[in-house]
Amino acid sequence: MEDTREEIHRVGHRRFVGGADNYWDAISELQFRFLVDQGLAPSETLVDVACGSLRGGARFIRYLDPDCYLGIDKHVELIIYGVATELGIRAYREKRPRFVVSDCFEFDKFQANPVFGIAQSLFTHLCADEVESCLSKLNSVAAPGCRHFAYTRSQMEDFGARTGWKSQYIGEWNHPRAQKMIEYVIR
Ligand SMILES: C[S@@+](CC[C@H](N)C(=O)[O-])C[C@H]1O[C@@H](n2cnc3c(N)ncnc32)[C@H](O)[C@@H]1O
Repeated sequence: MEDTREEIHRVGHRRFVGGADNYWDAISELQFRFLVDQGLAPSETLVDVACGSLRGGARFIRYLDPDCYLGIDKHVELIIYGVATELGIRAYREKRPRFVVSDCFEFDKFQANPVFGIAQSLFTHLCADEVESCLSKLNSVAAPGCRHFAYTRSQMEDFGARTGWKSQYIGEWNHPRAQKMIEYVIR
């Protein structure tokens, strides 16, 4: 069976995360504009949950101050392609983004307390237990007032309540594939 490294090389990192169409730039910009409109400031720490090949990450890293971007994903290969081709080594050295490779949401490895979080195109890939694990582990490291965003379906409100977040359904956020957004605010 083809391993992940070979598959990413064969199909390309953009197509692997589902973005090898006209939507790559649009979804990159959408994530970035959305969080800036929500109040993300350059000095604030952001965790990009399932950052993949930095579709949003490259925009966030360039905008944020050094050391303020935290990216976590289960595929190291996607992060490598993201840094090498979407971000570039100069910005990597200047902004010092930090990455954790994990498939079980080990946010504690950052040893940081994010104020903003986003999980773009993640929760529809996870089972209910994994969504709860993600929200629960993020809740335990999040800074007071932390706000986490994920596009989702209605059951996401229940996940939030069970894992200590106050949910606010946002719904439409101009996603080209009509995905919806929910905001989790730490209690
Ligand atoms: C559709 S891609 C979205 C990536 C990125 N957020 C973006 O907007 O391009 C889904 C990502 O979720 C990651 N992923 C899936 N399950 C995960 C898990 N349990 N822990 C961390 N990352 C996971 C995949 O490796 C992939 O990068």
